[in-house]
Amino acid sequence: MLKFDVLIIGSGLAGMTLALYLAEHCKIGLITKRDLLEGSSTYAQGGIAAVLDTGDSVEEHIRDTLIAGAGLCNPDTTRFIVEHSREAIEWLIDLGVPFTRDGSHQTGFHLTREGGHSHRRIIHAADATGAAVTSTLGQKIKAHPNITVLEDHIAIDLVTSRKLGEEGNRCYGAYALDKQADEVITIAARHTIIASGGAGKVYLYTTNPDTATGDGIAMGWRAGCRVGNMEFIQFHPTCLYHPHSKSFLISEAVRGEGGILRLPDGTRFMPNHDPRAELAPRDVVARAIDFEMKKHGLDCVHLDISYKPAHFIKEHFPNIYAHCLELGIDITQQPIPVVPAAHYTCGGLVTDLAGRTDVEGLYAVGEAACTGLHGANRLASNSLLECLVIGKAAAADILSAPVNPLPAIPDWDDSRVTDPDEEVVISHNWDELRRAMWDYVGIVRTNKRLERALNRIHLLEEEIDEYYSNFHISNDLIELRNLVQTAELIVRSALSRKESRGLHFSRDYPETLHESQETVLDPRQT
Ligand code: FAD
Ligand code: SIN
Repeated sequence: MLKFDVLIIGSGLAGMTLALYLAEHCKIGLITKRDLLEGSSTYAQGGIAAVLDTGDSVEEHIRDTLIAGAGLCNPDTTRFIVEHSREAIEWLIDLGVPFTRDGSHQTGFHLTREGGHSHRRIIHAADATGAAVTSTLGQKIKAHPNITVLEDHIAIDLVTSRKLGEEGNRCYGAYALDKQADEVITIAARHTIIASGGAGKVYLYTTNPDTATGDGIAMGWRAGCRVGNMEFIQFHPTCLYHPHSKSFLISEAVRGEGGILRLPDGTRFMPNHDPRAELAPRDVVARAIDFEMKKHGLDCVHLDISYKPAHFIKEHFPNIYAHCLELGIDITQQPIPVVPAAHYTCGGLVTDLAGRTDVEGLYAVGEAACTGLHGANRLASNSLLECLVIGKAAAADILSAPVNPLPAIPDWDDSRVTDPDEEVVISHNWDELRRAMWDYVGIVRTNKRLERALNRIHLLEEEIDEYYSNFHISNDLIELRNLVQTAELIVRSALSRKESRGLHFSRDYPETLHESQETVLDPRQT
């Protein structure tokens, strides 16, 4: 058994932020299921939203967030996070993150623009902001003597007092599979943080990396945490459409810098859908593309920035330019084929402003959490900001908490399981789930499609539960079990919303109700 003061599950920006704020004061175990830098944070392109320009204001950033969130953002959370945005960016600059500079701007940095923002307020490192941030923070983490990084370790389930048959519900750490040794270890900790990211992989087409399988949301739910707003899955309007490129995003900053969406015959269509045209919030743009693709029977639409000078495009979007060129698309000369794809899980484990969940000693930070910032639709580039601000607040809360004793924790018992007989069950079910979610729980929903998805999910759950009880655990089985659980939470939340709002659009309830209400599911009531 390993023992730490704090166990952090996940090494994206949320997990890294916590680790660095805590490391001077306590022993940290940071587990991550692939390598340290693998996760959505590293793939972030556009940047981080923050009030840095003197012509901008906290009030305007809050207003833009609330408008995008379609009446469901928590105003206190939004204010707290936006008010701390400058400080969060200063912390990253002090750590050495190489944001793109602009000597002519009062901040010394180039600020770009994205959909739903009334100002240029996105600080970025060209079009690879996430990689610049995580590689800088990753180096500090590797060098810190108080942080033990365990790569290739996937958390299976949390250890709670309730599961140990004690009173109350407190988290004491987690069981994790050491993938290289192929053995389950017990990790005990006084505080545990779920920083495991979102669940984009529940859909067939996604911008997310393979790590985004909803593990933390599912583990938290099983441990007794409420989940909120799970029906609000954000589809990014512009994922590259190419048979040899999986999950490659074309940043919203391309539209922010003037990119225009067109039908393949060159017709611009966004002004017919919204006065903000290409810079409307994501739910509006993704729905408009979906509408045009269905109306004209298209496989994709085009995003065109080729009318800008070639040097401007190469300077602002060097990675997108290079990636497309490798595939034979010269974006300085021709439009980019794009389609919407699942991008961000707005809902998650319900937390307060310090990242505390319903289970004592258990925190959730980043995309796995639902703080109320994103409401029914996240404003672009607010996600990395949330990781930074709530990460710091959670660290402060942990440091001020009393030191509780840890009980004896039983080892993982796999004495009654055998080796799996048919691995194909896992890959088949994985594929079936993601296809059903894409077909029935996508951008436009109906009750019938949602019911259809739920029926399939229940059948898959039965099969996977049986498999889980009888066979040795593996990475794929752990992820599939969590994906199915997360899918169920998404569909149940979607079925309970009797209106269309933000990212949730139902043909059966096309109107938005006057009064907005969060969807909260409670495991104690099911
Ligand atoms: P992640 O960065 O996804 O990290 C999760 C970590 O948890 C990973 O290390 C993963 O391996 C680990 N993990 C998961 N499950 C387990 C388990 N069971 N056991 C152990 N480890 C586990 N947001 C912005 O604000 N600005 C942007 O420009 C932007 N661009 C984006 C571009 C792309 C292509 C994508 C996919 C997202 C983008 N986002 C952007 C969203 C943003 O990147 C994510 O919401 C954010 O990075 C989430 O950070 P996180 O730390 O919560 O999770
Ligand atoms: C992008 O660069 O378009 C992604 C920004 C985000 O998801 O916030």
